[in-house]
Amino acid sequence: MALRRRLEDRLRRVLHAFNFREVQTPTFEELELFEKKAGAGVRDEIYEFKDKSGRELCLRPELTLPVMRFYFGSQLKVEPKPLRLFYFGPCYRYDRPQAGRYREFWQVGVELVGDASPEAHAELLWLALQVFEASGLSKIVLRVGHLAILRSLIESMLGVLPTDQGPLMRLIDKKDLEGIKAHLAGRTDAKRVEEFLSFFELGDLEAAKKAFPGSPRTQEAYDQLARVMARLDGFGADATKLRFDPTIARGLEYYTGLVFELDCPDLGAEKQLLGGGEYDLSAVFDATPEPTVGFALGFDRTLVALEKTGKLPEVRDRVDVLVAALSEKGTPAAQRIANALRELDLRVELDLSGRGPKRALQRGSAVKAKCAVLLGEREIDRGVAALKNLDTGEQVEVPTSEVAARLQPWVVAN
Ligand code: HAM
Repeated sequence: MALRRRLEDRLRRVLHAFNFREVQTPTFEELELFEKKAGAGVRDEIYEFKDKSGRELCLRPELTLPVMRFYFGSQLKVEPKPLRLFYFGPCYRYDRPQAGRYREFWQVGVELVGDASPEAHAELLWLALQVFEASGLSKIVLRVGHLAILRSLIESMLGVLPTDQGPLMRLIDKKDLEGIKAHLAGRTDAKRVEEFLSFFELGDLEAAKKAFPGSPRTQEAYDQLARVMARLDGFGADATKLRFDPTIARGLEYYTGLVFELDCPDLGAEKQLLGGGEYDLSAVFDATPEPTVGFALGFDRTLVALEKTGKLPEVRDRVDVLVAALSEKGTPAAQRIANALRELDLRVELDLSGRGPKRALQRGSAVKAKCAVLLGEREIDRGVAALKNLDTGEQVEVPTSEVAARLQPWVVAN
Protein backbone atom coordinates (compact mmCIF):
# COMPACT_ATOMS: atom_id res chain seq x y z
CA MET A 1 0.00 0.00 0.00
CA ALA A 2 2.90 2.37 0.69
CA LEU A 3 3.92 1.95 -2.94
CA ARG A 4 0.40 2.46 -4.23
CA ARG A 5 -0.05 5.57 -2.07
CA ARG A 6 3.16 7.03 -3.39
CA LEU A 7 2.05 6.62 -6.99
CA GLU A 8 -1.40 7.93 -6.08
CA ASP A 9 0.17 11.05 -4.53
CA ARG A 10 2.20 11.72 -7.66
CA LEU A 11 -0.87 11.42 -9.89
CA ARG A 12 -3.03 13.53 -7.58
CA ARG A 13 -0.45 16.30 -7.65
CA VAL A 14 -0.68 16.52 -11.46
CA LEU A 15 -4.50 16.44 -11.43
CA HIS A 16 -4.50 19.22 -8.87
CA ALA A 17 -2.08 21.30 -10.95
CA PHE A 18 -4.49 21.02 -13.90
CA ASN A 19 -7.35 22.14 -11.62
CA PHE A 20 -9.37 18.90 -11.67
CA ARG A 21 -11.69 18.36 -8.70
CA GLU A 22 -12.40 14.95 -7.21
CA VAL A 23 -15.78 13.23 -7.27
CA GLN A 24 -16.79 9.87 -5.87
CA THR A 25 -19.75 7.63 -6.70
CA PRO A 26 -20.97 4.31 -5.23
CA THR A 27 -19.32 1.06 -6.31
CA PHE A 28 -22.67 -0.36 -7.40
CA GLU A 29 -25.08 1.09 -9.92
CA GLU A 30 -28.29 0.13 -11.64
CA LEU A 31 -27.51 -2.48 -14.25
CA GLU A 32 -29.59 -0.57 -16.79
CA LEU A 33 -27.09 2.28 -16.90
CA PHE A 34 -24.43 0.03 -18.39
CA GLU A 35 -26.82 -2.09 -20.42
CA LYS A 36 -27.86 1.02 -22.32
CA LYS A 37 -24.52 2.52 -23.13
CA ALA A 38 -21.47 0.45 -22.28
CA GLY A 39 -21.34 -1.68 -25.43
CA ALA A 40 -21.51 -5.46 -25.86
CA GLY A 41 -17.86 -6.09 -24.95
CA VAL A 42 -18.22 -4.52 -21.54
CA ARG A 43 -21.80 -5.71 -20.92
CA ASP A 44 -20.62 -9.34 -21.10
CA GLU A 45 -18.09 -8.62 -18.37
CA ILE A 46 -20.42 -7.08 -15.79
CA TYR A 47 -20.84 -8.49 -12.29
CA GLU A 48 -24.59 -8.25 -11.84
CA PHE A 49 -26.90 -9.14 -8.98
CA LYS A 50 -30.32 -8.52 -7.51
CA ASP A 51 -30.69 -6.87 -4.12
CA LYS A 52 -33.24 -7.93 -1.49
CA SER A 53 -36.02 -5.96 -3.15
CA GLY A 54 -35.29 -7.39 -6.57
CA ARG A 55 -33.55 -4.34 -8.04
CA GLU A 56 -31.12 -5.24 -10.80
CA LEU A 57 -27.75 -3.84 -9.82
CA CYS A 58 -24.14 -4.30 -10.83
CA LEU A 59 -20.63 -3.52 -9.70
CA ARG A 60 -19.43 -0.67 -11.90
CA PRO A 61 -17.13 -1.81 -14.75
CA GLU A 62 -15.94 1.78 -15.28
CA LEU A 63 -16.63 5.26 -13.95
CA THR A 64 -17.60 7.49 -16.86
CA LEU A 65 -21.28 6.49 -16.86
CA PRO A 66 -21.59 6.77 -13.02
CA VAL A 67 -19.84 10.15 -12.96
CA MET A 68 -22.04 11.51 -15.73
CA ARG A 69 -25.14 10.11 -14.00
CA PHE A 70 -24.00 12.00 -10.91
CA TYR A 71 -23.28 15.12 -12.95
CA PHE A 72 -26.66 15.22 -14.71
CA GLY A 73 -28.52 14.55 -11.44
CA SER A 74 -26.75 17.12 -9.29
CA GLN A 75 -25.99 20.81 -8.92
CA LEU A 76 -22.78 20.27 -10.89
CA LYS A 77 -24.97 20.56 -13.99
CA VAL A 78 -25.54 24.26 -13.41
CA GLU A 79 -21.93 25.13 -12.61
CA PRO A 80 -20.03 27.19 -15.19
CA LYS A 81 -18.42 25.10 -17.92
CA PRO A 82 -16.04 23.60 -18.63
CA LEU A 83 -16.01 21.51 -15.50
CA ARG A 84 -12.94 19.49 -14.66
CA LEU A 85 -13.72 16.34 -12.65
CA PHE A 86 -11.51 13.44 -11.63
CA TYR A 87 -12.00 10.17 -9.77
CA PHE A 88 -9.98 7.36 -8.30
CA GLY A 89 -11.77 4.15 -7.44
CA PRO A 90 -12.21 0.40 -7.88
CA CYS A 91 -13.93 -1.09 -10.94
CA TYR A 92 -15.04 -4.68 -11.56
CA ARG A 93 -15.05 -6.72 -14.74
CA TYR A 94 -15.84 -10.41 -15.00
CA ASP A 95 -12.94 -11.27 -17.26
CA ARG A 96 -10.30 -13.98 -17.37
CA PRO A 97 -7.60 -12.64 -15.03
CA GLN A 98 -3.98 -12.55 -16.20
CA ALA A 99 -0.95 -10.33 -15.68
CA GLY A 100 -2.27 -6.76 -15.76
CA ARG A 101 -5.91 -7.81 -16.12
CA TYR A 102 -7.92 -8.24 -12.96
CA ARG A 103 -11.53 -8.67 -11.91
CA GLU A 104 -11.13 -5.85 -9.43
CA PHE A 105 -8.88 -3.00 -10.49
CA TRP A 106 -8.54 0.71 -9.84
CA GLN A 107 -8.98 3.48 -12.33
CA VAL A 108 -7.86 7.09 -12.19
CA GLY A 109 -9.93 9.09 -14.62
CA VAL A 110 -10.91 12.58 -15.67
CA GLU A 111 -13.91 14.08 -17.44
CA LEU A 112 -13.73 17.56 -18.95
CA VAL A 113 -17.42 18.38 -19.13
CA GLY A 114 -18.85 20.93 -21.55
CA ASP A 115 -15.97 21.34 -23.97
CA ALA A 116 -14.83 18.99 -26.72
CA SER A 117 -12.89 21.56 -28.75
CA PRO A 118 -9.43 20.69 -30.12
CA GLU A 119 -8.05 22.80 -27.25
CA ALA A 120 -9.91 20.67 -24.68
CA HIS A 121 -8.60 17.49 -26.33
CA ALA A 122 -5.07 18.84 -26.38
CA GLU A 123 -5.30 19.72 -22.69
CA LEU A 124 -6.42 16.21 -21.82
CA LEU A 125 -3.81 14.51 -23.98
CA TRP A 126 -1.14 16.72 -22.46
CA LEU A 127 -2.48 15.83 -19.01
CA ALA A 128 -2.27 12.13 -19.91
CA LEU A 129 1.37 12.56 -20.92
CA GLN A 130 2.13 14.56 -17.78
CA VAL A 131 0.47 11.97 -15.56
CA PHE A 132 2.79 9.28 -16.91
CA GLU A 133 5.77 11.60 -16.72
CA ALA A 134 4.99 12.04 -13.02
CA SER A 135 4.53 8.29 -12.54
CA GLY A 136 8.12 7.79 -13.73
CA LEU A 137 7.17 5.81 -16.82
CA SER A 138 8.87 7.33 -19.84
CA LYS A 139 8.52 4.58 -22.44
CA ILE A 140 4.98 5.20 -23.60
CA VAL A 141 3.15 5.73 -26.86
CA LEU A 142 0.01 7.83 -27.13
CA ARG A 143 -2.07 6.89 -30.16
CA VAL A 144 -4.76 9.25 -31.38
CA GLY A 145 -7.52 8.44 -33.85
CA HIS A 146 -11.00 9.46 -34.86
CA LEU A 147 -14.13 7.32 -35.10
CA ALA A 148 -15.46 9.34 -38.05
CA ILE A 149 -12.39 8.35 -40.07
CA LEU A 150 -12.58 4.69 -39.06
CA ARG A 151 -16.31 4.42 -39.62
CA SER A 152 -16.18 6.03 -43.04
CA LEU A 153 -13.24 3.78 -43.99
CA ILE A 154 -15.29 0.74 -43.03
CA GLU A 155 -18.29 1.96 -44.97
CA SER A 156 -16.56 3.00 -48.16
CA MET A 157 -13.88 0.29 -48.33
CA LEU A 158 -15.81 -2.65 -46.95
CA GLY A 159 -19.37 -1.63 -47.68
CA VAL A 160 -20.47 -2.14 -44.05
CA LEU A 161 -23.06 0.45 -43.05
CA PRO A 162 -22.66 2.32 -39.72
CA THR A 163 -25.65 0.48 -38.21
CA ASP A 164 -23.94 -2.91 -38.83
CA GLN A 165 -20.47 -1.93 -37.73
CA GLY A 166 -20.71 -3.03 -34.06
CA PRO A 167 -19.22 -6.57 -34.31
CA LEU A 168 -16.47 -5.39 -36.65
CA MET A 169 -15.60 -2.47 -34.34
CA ARG A 170 -15.19 -4.93 -31.46
CA LEU A 171 -12.80 -7.08 -33.53
CA ILE A 172 -10.86 -3.97 -34.55
CA ASP A 173 -10.72 -2.87 -30.90
CA LYS A 174 -9.15 -6.23 -30.03
CA LYS A 175 -6.75 -5.91 -33.02
CA ASP A 176 -7.98 -9.37 -34.03
CA LEU A 177 -6.85 -9.36 -37.68
CA GLU A 178 -7.77 -13.01 -38.26
CA GLY A 179 -11.16 -12.39 -36.71
CA ILE A 180 -11.70 -9.38 -39.00
CA LYS A 181 -10.83 -11.48 -42.07
CA ALA A 182 -13.14 -14.29 -40.94
CA HIS A 183 -15.96 -11.83 -40.21
CA LEU A 184 -15.70 -10.27 -43.68
CA ALA A 185 -15.08 -13.50 -45.62
CA GLY A 186 -17.81 -14.02 -48.20
CA ARG A 187 -19.15 -10.47 -47.70
CA THR A 188 -16.33 -8.32 -48.93
CA ASP A 189 -13.78 -8.89 -51.66
CA ALA A 190 -10.55 -10.24 -50.07
CA LYS A 191 -8.47 -7.61 -51.87
CA ARG A 192 -10.52 -4.80 -50.34
CA VAL A 193 -10.02 -6.38 -46.93
CA GLU A 194 -6.24 -6.43 -47.43
CA GLU A 195 -6.34 -2.83 -48.58
CA PHE A 196 -8.35 -1.93 -45.49
CA LEU A 197 -5.88 -3.71 -43.22
CA SER A 198 -2.94 -1.95 -44.88
CA PHE A 199 -4.48 1.27 -43.66
CA PHE A 200 -3.75 -0.01 -40.15
CA GLU A 201 -0.05 0.51 -40.81
CA LEU A 202 -0.38 4.24 -41.50
CA GLY A 203 1.04 6.14 -38.55
CA ASP A 204 1.20 9.52 -40.21
CA LEU A 205 -1.75 11.87 -40.39
CA GLU A 206 -0.76 13.55 -43.66
CA ALA A 207 -0.11 10.22 -45.40
CA ALA A 208 -3.49 8.92 -44.24
CA LYS A 209 -5.25 12.02 -45.48
CA LYS A 210 -3.70 11.56 -48.91
CA ALA A 211 -4.43 7.83 -49.07
CA PHE A 212 -7.99 8.22 -47.85
CA PRO A 213 -9.41 11.74 -48.12
CA GLY A 214 -12.97 10.47 -47.48
CA SER A 215 -16.07 12.63 -47.11
CA PRO A 216 -16.34 16.22 -45.83
CA ARG A 217 -16.98 14.75 -42.33
CA THR A 218 -13.74 12.77 -42.62
CA GLN A 219 -11.92 15.91 -43.72
CA GLU A 220 -13.25 17.71 -40.67
CA ALA A 221 -11.93 14.89 -38.48
CA TYR A 222 -8.45 15.16 -40.05
CA ASP A 223 -8.48 18.92 -39.49
CA GLN A 224 -9.54 18.46 -35.86
CA LEU A 225 -6.72 15.97 -35.32
CA ALA A 226 -4.18 18.28 -36.95
CA ARG A 227 -5.25 21.12 -34.69
CA VAL A 228 -5.04 18.97 -31.58
CA MET A 229 -1.53 17.90 -32.57
CA ALA A 230 -0.51 21.53 -33.14
CA ARG A 231 -1.83 22.50 -29.70
CA LEU A 232 0.01 19.56 -28.14
CA ASP A 233 3.17 20.81 -29.76
CA GLY A 234 2.47 24.19 -28.14
CA PHE A 235 2.51 22.52 -24.71
CA GLY A 236 5.89 21.04 -25.54
CA ALA A 237 4.72 17.43 -26.04
CA ASP A 238 7.41 14.99 -27.17
CA ALA A 239 6.40 14.13 -30.76
CA THR A 240 8.18 10.77 -30.60
CA LYS A 241 5.55 9.62 -28.11
CA LEU A 242 2.62 10.53 -30.38
CA ARG A 243 1.13 8.50 -33.23
CA PHE A 244 -1.86 8.85 -35.46
CA ASP A 245 -3.74 5.55 -35.33
CA PRO A 246 -6.84 5.30 -37.52
CA THR A 247 -7.74 1.91 -36.06
CA ILE A 248 -8.69 2.89 -32.52
CA ALA A 249 -12.25 1.61 -32.09
CA ARG A 250 -12.55 1.63 -28.23
CA GLY A 251 -14.50 -1.11 -26.44
CA LEU A 252 -17.11 1.24 -24.99
CA GLU A 253 -19.98 2.37 -27.15
CA TYR A 254 -20.46 5.97 -26.10
CA TYR A 255 -17.58 7.59 -28.01
CA THR A 256 -18.48 9.89 -30.87
CA GLY A 257 -15.33 11.45 -32.34
CA LEU A 258 -11.71 11.75 -31.38
CA VAL A 259 -10.41 8.73 -29.43
CA PHE A 260 -7.05 7.86 -27.93
CA GLU A 261 -5.13 5.13 -26.16
CA LEU A 262 -1.79 5.08 -24.40
CA ASP A 263 0.41 1.96 -24.29
CA CYS A 264 3.55 0.81 -22.58
CA PRO A 265 5.20 -1.19 -25.40
CA ASP A 266 7.21 -3.26 -22.88
CA LEU A 267 4.09 -5.00 -21.62
CA GLY A 268 2.55 -7.95 -23.45
CA ALA A 269 -1.11 -8.32 -24.32
CA GLU A 270 -2.31 -5.99 -21.56
CA LYS A 271 -0.16 -3.07 -22.58
CA GLN A 272 -2.91 -0.46 -22.78
CA LEU A 273 -2.56 1.79 -19.76
CA LEU A 274 -5.08 4.48 -20.65
CA GLY A 275 -8.01 5.03 -22.95
CA GLY A 276 -10.45 7.81 -23.65
CA GLY A 277 -12.09 10.15 -26.10
CA GLU A 278 -15.00 12.41 -26.87
CA TYR A 279 -18.60 11.55 -26.02
CA ASP A 280 -21.96 13.05 -25.08
CA LEU A 281 -24.21 11.15 -22.67
CA SER A 282 -26.89 13.85 -22.36
CA ALA A 283 -29.46 11.76 -24.28
CA VAL A 284 -29.21 8.94 -21.70
CA PHE A 285 -30.24 11.40 -19.00
CA ASP A 286 -32.77 13.39 -21.07
CA ALA A 287 -30.63 16.52 -20.85
CA THR A 288 -29.42 19.14 -23.28
CA PRO A 289 -26.25 18.25 -25.25
CA GLU A 290 -23.04 18.34 -23.25
CA PRO A 291 -19.94 17.47 -25.26
CA THR A 292 -17.34 15.93 -22.99
CA VAL A 293 -13.83 14.50 -23.25
CA GLY A 294 -12.34 12.11 -20.76
CA PHE A 295 -9.93 9.29 -20.11
CA ALA A 296 -9.16 6.68 -17.50
CA LEU A 297 -5.95 4.90 -16.71
CA GLY A 298 -5.51 1.50 -15.14
CA PHE A 299 -3.78 2.12 -11.83
CA ASP A 300 -2.78 -1.52 -11.21
CA ARG A 301 -1.59 -1.94 -14.77
CA THR A 302 0.50 1.19 -14.46
CA LEU A 303 2.17 -0.36 -11.41
CA VAL A 304 2.88 -3.52 -13.44
CA ALA A 305 4.43 -1.34 -16.16
CA LEU A 306 6.58 0.52 -13.63
CA GLU A 307 7.75 -2.76 -12.15
CA LYS A 308 8.54 -4.30 -15.55
CA THR A 309 10.60 -1.28 -16.59
CA GLY A 310 12.38 -0.96 -13.23
CA LYS A 311 10.74 2.38 -12.51
CA LEU A 312 8.76 1.62 -9.35
CA PRO A 313 8.78 4.63 -7.03
CA GLU A 314 11.08 4.32 -4.07
CA VAL A 315 9.10 3.78 -0.92
CA ARG A 316 10.37 5.98 1.84
CA ASP A 317 8.95 4.07 4.71
CA ARG A 318 11.24 5.17 7.51
CA VAL A 319 10.47 5.88 11.12
CA ASP A 320 11.78 9.31 12.11
CA VAL A 321 12.51 8.63 15.75
CA LEU A 322 12.58 5.63 18.06
CA VAL A 323 11.95 6.79 21.63
CA ALA A 324 12.89 4.11 24.17
CA ALA A 325 12.53 4.00 27.93
CA LEU A 326 15.35 1.77 29.14
CA SER A 327 13.71 1.29 32.55
CA GLU A 328 10.52 2.03 34.44
CA LYS A 329 11.97 5.32 35.61
CA GLY A 330 12.43 6.55 32.05
CA THR A 331 8.83 5.83 31.04
CA PRO A 332 7.08 9.15 31.87
CA ALA A 333 9.81 11.19 30.12
CA ALA A 334 9.70 8.86 27.09
CA GLN A 335 5.92 9.32 26.86
CA ARG A 336 6.22 13.11 27.12
CA ILE A 337 8.94 13.28 24.48
CA ALA A 338 7.02 10.98 22.12
CA ASN A 339 3.94 13.22 22.49
CA ALA A 340 5.97 16.35 21.73
CA LEU A 341 7.66 14.82 18.67
CA ARG A 342 4.36 13.50 17.29
CA GLU A 343 2.90 17.00 17.67
CA LEU A 344 5.63 18.10 15.26
CA ASP A 345 4.26 15.57 12.72
CA LEU A 346 7.21 13.27 13.14
CA ARG A 347 6.75 9.52 12.79
CA VAL A 348 7.62 8.08 16.18
CA GLU A 349 7.85 4.56 17.50
CA LEU A 350 7.65 4.42 21.28
CA ASP A 351 9.30 1.50 23.03
CA LEU A 352 8.30 1.17 26.67
CA SER A 353 9.44 -2.42 27.04
CA GLY A 354 12.33 -1.36 29.25
CA ARG A 355 14.89 -3.45 27.40
CA GLY A 356 18.53 -2.43 27.50
CA PRO A 357 20.18 0.13 25.17
CA LYS A 358 21.60 -2.52 22.80
CA ARG A 359 18.24 -4.16 22.16
CA ALA A 360 16.54 -0.76 21.85
CA LEU A 361 19.04 0.30 19.17
CA GLN A 362 18.58 -3.03 17.37
CA ARG A 363 14.88 -2.30 17.25
CA GLY A 364 15.70 1.19 15.90
CA SER A 365 17.66 -0.30 13.01
CA ALA A 366 14.99 -2.92 12.35
CA VAL A 367 12.32 -0.24 11.82
CA LYS A 368 14.81 1.91 9.87
CA ALA A 369 14.56 4.75 12.37
CA LYS A 370 16.65 7.79 11.51
CA CYS A 371 17.53 8.39 15.14
CA ALA A 372 16.88 7.15 18.65
CA VAL A 373 16.15 8.84 21.97
CA LEU A 374 17.21 6.67 24.91
CA LEU A 375 16.01 7.32 28.45
CA GLY A 376 17.67 5.25 31.16
CA GLU A 377 17.95 5.84 34.89
CA ARG A 378 21.27 7.57 34.54
CA GLU A 379 19.86 10.06 32.04
CA ILE A 380 16.69 10.73 34.05
CA ASP A 381 18.66 11.44 37.21
CA ARG A 382 20.53 14.16 35.35
CA GLY A 383 17.52 15.54 33.39
CA VAL A 384 19.00 14.59 30.01
CA ALA A 385 18.30 12.18 27.14
CA ALA A 386 20.80 10.22 25.02
CA LEU A 387 20.33 10.85 21.30
CA LYS A 388 21.83 8.73 18.57
CA ASN A 389 21.84 9.42 14.86
CA LEU A 390 21.36 5.91 13.46
CA ASP A 391 22.66 6.90 10.01
CA THR A 392 25.94 8.49 11.09
CA GLY A 393 26.45 6.91 14.52
CA GLU A 394 26.81 10.35 16.13
CA GLN A 395 25.76 10.35 19.78
CA VAL A 396 25.02 13.30 22.11
CA GLU A 397 23.37 14.03 25.43
CA VAL A 398 20.95 16.96 25.68
CA PRO A 399 18.52 18.28 28.29
CA THR A 400 15.13 16.58 27.76
CA SER A 401 13.57 19.95 26.85
CA GLU A 402 15.95 20.28 23.86
CA VAL A 403 15.41 16.85 22.29
CA ALA A 404 13.13 18.04 19.48
CA ALA A 405 15.37 20.92 18.42
CA ARG A 406 18.48 18.75 18.42
CA LEU A 407 16.84 15.95 16.40
CA GLN A 408 15.30 18.17 13.75
CA PRO A 409 18.32 18.35 11.39
CA TRP A 410 18.87 14.58 11.61
CA VAL A 411 15.28 13.86 10.69
CA VAL A 412 15.12 16.36 7.84
CA ALA A 413 18.41 15.18 6.34
CA ASN A 414 16.86 11.84 5.31
P1 HAM B 1 -11.24 1.48 -20.73
O1 HAM B 1 -10.31 1.53 -21.88
O2 HAM B 1 -12.27 0.39 -20.73
O3 HAM B 1 -11.94 2.90 -20.68
O4 HAM B 1 -10.43 1.38 -19.37
C1 HAM B 1 -9.41 2.32 -19.07
C2 HAM B 1 -8.17 1.61 -18.56
O5 HAM B 1 -8.49 0.78 -17.45
C3 HAM B 1 -7.53 0.64 -19.56
O6 HAM B 1 -6.71 1.32 -20.47
C4 HAM B 1 -6.76 -0.29 -18.65
O7 HAM B 1 -5.48 0.26 -18.35
C5 HAM B 1 -7.59 -0.31 -17.40
N1 HAM B 1 -8.34 -1.59 -17.33
C6 HAM B 1 -9.45 -1.93 -18.01
N2 HAM B 1 -9.83 -3.20 -17.69
C7 HAM B 1 -8.94 -3.66 -16.78
C8 HAM B 1 -8.80 -4.90 -16.03
N3 HAM B 1 -9.66 -5.90 -16.17
N4 HAM B 1 -7.73 -5.00 -15.18
C9 HAM B 1 -6.85 -3.97 -15.03
N5 HAM B 1 -6.95 -2.79 -15.69
C10 HAM B 1 -7.99 -2.63 -16.55
C11 HAM B 1 -12.86 3.29 -19.72
O8 HAM B 1 -13.13 2.64 -18.74
C12 HAM B 1 -13.46 4.65 -19.98
N6 HAM B 1 -14.42 4.94 -18.91
C13 HAM B 1 -12.39 5.72 -20.07
C14 HAM B 1 -12.97 7.08 -20.29
C15 HAM B 1 -13.14 8.07 -19.38
N7 HAM B 1 -13.46 7.53 -21.43
C16 HAM B 1 -13.91 8.75 -21.26
N8 HAM B 1 -13.73 9.08 -20.02
